[in-house]
Amino acid sequence: MRILLVNGPNLNTLGAREPEIYGTTTLAQIEAAVRARAAEFQADVRALQSNSEGAIVDWLQQEQADGDGLVINAGALAHYGIALRDAVAACGLPAVEVHISNVWRREEFRHASLLSPVVSGAIVGLGAHGYVLAVEALARIIQGAE
Ligand code: DQA
Repeated sequence: MRILLVNGPNLNTLGAREPEIYGTTTLAQIEAAVRARAAEFQADVRALQSNSEGAIVDWLQQEQADGDGLVINAGALAHYGIALRDAVAACGLPAVEVHISNVWRREEFRHASLLSPVVSGAIVGLGAHGYVLAVEALARIIQGAE
């Protein structure tokens, strides 16, 4: 089993970025936690972080044939990235959307996600641990338990 992990704009600065909103866990720590949990499901992980929507679309097109599922925190692209939404919809993989912060408690422009209608489910507002929860949910979906 292979899980694709995508992090969008500004998530490379996790740890330092607005820690009162996003906590102090770094992206490297998140990727390590995702790899460790995935390994318990005999899954390996391919990870991308990019600040560029086009680079994420390119990467998804390239990796989708070798992937079984997708965990994606698109950052702000979740709210306006139509090309990314189309790529996620077209990739044919079950996907779980993650947001570290509770976007519903924040500015109104964060309340809508273009991705939510094209993913299996979303984990929102549970901090960096949300990525690990997403792996668990995705593994169950891939294995046909959900
Ligand atoms: C985020 C929420 C988005 O609104 C924001 O633009 C981000 C991070 C989150 O993980 O809480 O970059 O996706």
